[in-house]
Amino acid sequence: MSAVESLRPVLSLPQIQALAAPDMAAIDALIRTRLASDVVLINQIAEHIVSAGGKRLRPMLVALAGRACGRDAKPEHHQLAAIIEFIHTSTLLHDDVVDESDLRRGRSTANAIWGNAASVLVGDFLYSRSFQLMVELDSMQVMQILADTTNRIAEGEVLQLLHVRNPDTDEAAYLRVIERKTAILFAAATQLGALAAGADAATQHRLFDFGMHLGYAFQIADDVLDYTADATDLGKNLGDDLAEGKATLPLIHAMAHSDASVRVRLRGIVENGDADAMPEVLAAIRAAGSIEYSGRRASEYAQAAEDALDGLAENEALAALRGLARYAVSRKN
Ligand code: IPE
Ligand code: IPE
Ligand code: MG
Ligand code: MG
Repeated sequence: MSAVESLRPVLSLPQIQALAAPDMAAIDALIRTRLASDVVLINQIAEHIVSAGGKRLRPMLVALAGRACGRDAKPEHHQLAAIIEFIHTSTLLHDDVVDESDLRRGRSTANAIWGNAASVLVGDFLYSRSFQLMVELDSMQVMQILADTTNRIAEGEVLQLLHVRNPDTDEAAYLRVIERKTAILFAAATQLGALAAGADAATQHRLFDFGMHLGYAFQIADDVLDYTADATDLGKNLGDDLAEGKATLPLIHAMAHSDASVRVRLRGIVENGDADAMPEVLAAIRAAGSIEYSGRRASEYAQAAEDALDGLAENEALAALRGLARYAVSRKN
């Protein structure tokens, strides 16, 4: 990091949380009131996953992006934030079915408790509820951004499915998947925050770039955590990616940088989605320096996110966004 960069103000996570607290309280209240349905099972499942919390990072980004553009967050920001969190939550319900995961946010997943069918259908409920909230905003531009975003997420998930158990998945293919399944929603969150603050197109573009790079950093860090975290801290089981035959960056790097015998073995493990091979895979990943490599790649994206904000007028929310870029790659859960 250059001397100039180190002079940019950056808030710590507790400072960010304090700054965003009033917005987050309003957003949380909105999420809770708008979750309701008169179908009991919907309330049960939605309540199960929403009350478990989650980091609420994406809604926080909507509010902070608005403030970074020099506006106090408005009711429109809170509504957009709730929409983004509903979309995120619906993808989690679907993702846990696809990934056959049984732990999320420190709780049994909805699919583990109520089964796959109920999880998919309640995911659809949250997804369509987000559309109802969108329509209330009565903005064609907002609907355009969110229609494109949700469509890209679905593409990303299907693209990922095509790579399952494929040992030829390389870093470029991996990056194409995470752009769509994860980064694009972060980009939408920050762009919409700027849009609702009345920011001009160039500023919206900067915030979009920030969110996109942050999203890449966030997913790469998530994929490292799937190998290295403490399950209690993470609130998810480790090794879900391997069990599913999903080659993420640490394993992709290890496959490309191990000697022939280890490489052949790793390829076989990916082809079989062999969760029992976790100790062996971890050893290979560590020997190839793949955790460090992935960490470096995540940090590069986080730095690119911060760089995208250069040129905006300095304020506390901007320093908070920089802090979130650093948090994305240093987090434990
Ligand atoms: C999980 O997202 C899905 C990924 C993109 C890795 P988060 O880690 O933001 O999940 P919650 O909302 O905090 O539980
Ligand atoms: C999450 O990918 C992507 C979406 C939810 C769209 P992961 O499968 O890595 O997320 P976790 O690890 O289950 O949270
Ligand atoms: Mg998953
Ligand atoms: Mg993961």
